[in-house]
Amino acid sequence: MEEKNKRETFSTGFAVFFATLGSAVGLGNIWKFPYLIGTNGGGAFLLVYLLCVVLVGIPIMSCEFYIGRKSRKNAVGAFKKLNASKGWKTIGFMGVASAFLIAFFYSSVAGWVYSYVFKAIKGDFAGVTLVTANTKFMSTLVGPLSPIVWQFIVLCVVSIILIAGVKNGIERITKTLMPVLFILILICDVRALTLPGASQGLKFLFHVDFTQLTGPVILAALGLAFFKLSLGMGTMLTYGSYFTQSNNMIATSAKVALSDSLISILAGIAIFPAVFSFGLTPSEGPGLLFKTIPLVFSKIPFGSVLLVAFFFLTAIAATTAMISMIEVPVAYFTEEKGIGRKNAVLLTTSIMMVVGILATLSAHPTSVLGNIHILGQRGFFDSFDFISSNILLPIGGLLIAIYVGYFVKKEDFKLELSNQGTLNNDLVLNIIYIFIKFISPCLLIIVFFNSIGIIKL
Ligand code: TRP
Repeated sequence: MEEKNKRETFSTGFAVFFATLGSAVGLGNIWKFPYLIGTNGGGAFLLVYLLCVVLVGIPIMSCEFYIGRKSRKNAVGAFKKLNASKGWKTIGFMGVASAFLIAFFYSSVAGWVYSYVFKAIKGDFAGVTLVTANTKFMSTLVGPLSPIVWQFIVLCVVSIILIAGVKNGIERITKTLMPVLFILILICDVRALTLPGASQGLKFLFHVDFTQLTGPVILAALGLAFFKLSLGMGTMLTYGSYFTQSNNMIATSAKVALSDSLISILAGIAIFPAVFSFGLTPSEGPGLLFKTIPLVFSKIPFGSVLLVAFFFLTAIAATTAMISMIEVPVAYFTEEKGIGRKNAVLLTTSIMMVVGILATLSAHPTSVLGNIHILGQRGFFDSFDFISSNILLPIGGLLIAIYVGYFVKKEDFKLELSNQGTLNNDLVLNIIYIFIKFISPCLLIIVFFNSIGIIKL
């Protein structure tokens, strides 16, 4: 087949950066990162998280880019194209499965964000207090009908953009809106930092208390690093397959990882001072963002406008991240199964909608399906999250590192990542290669064995 010639690529290096950042930046930064820091003890978690980004995140991202651009294929087809032995395709299949599992709960949370945009426009948050912020969140979450409707709307928006052709739309949207999101978070930061008692929040975020560093905390930090950087399931591999031939992929990995971490930290600075100032608890869980941000913007000039803008941009971030997630099965179905793009999108998002309802209806213990437990104490929502973030993504990442580190010729790897020797980045490549071969797999193995109870950290 001649798909290779039909395949689109992003137009410029600038577009590559923003599209990739658009995948990385999403609910992970604004919703998940703050609440995981809150439930895992603050600064110590942040430190381990940043270490995971550098020691594991950047090397694995480079591997995914390598496999993607070298093969110019989807997550499953890439391994066939590179003549890897049959078993390696499993990485691609696991990636397709993870895309579904993540989308089940991600579309649900994105639905809450969309509904907050709508509520903020209606002025529902005028004069909000701690108590009313809480009730509003609970009614958004527990529904039961409205969160399903919002989830449906999210999946429709994502489908329309995906069908209409990702690159032009996405490129343009991410390039303009990412900087605006950044500025809005900065405004939130200024506001949060001028709240009474703000310093307590900063202390929580940045003070490292080493007694907090337990096995589960380290596992959660690694899981978050993978989730945040969209790694371990072929998203970056698929995006890499659309990169321009002249892109410096190591530099792109580093720039995306660092910008993404900066945005997460800025989101933390917006949230934690407010948490302490308004008497919420940092270990609030998934509702943290939804309860604090309306309070942060209450009682300031233009607060209601800023609130709409903030949730609108969070919605955009969630949408661009979802697009990259869903592109994995879509690229697989179109290239490997010969399904047309439109049908591939509809098939994928329909499954996500139907099964996603289980996540939506189990997001809280008082939700309709909230007391059904499938994995120990976990309901559907938490199980989808746990299986994907803490198990499938790290295993996917481990296999990718082993494949590139031990089954690809070093020269081949260096040739592709130096753009056939034109980049002059030999030293960096040698260092990254050591990380890929030894450091990332060791860390992943230790953390994974700990998570399934074989060793105890
Ligand atoms: N990185 C995104 C976020 O932080 C989520 C995401 C998009 C993702 N694509 C992914 C997570 C692929 C894991 C794998 O919100």
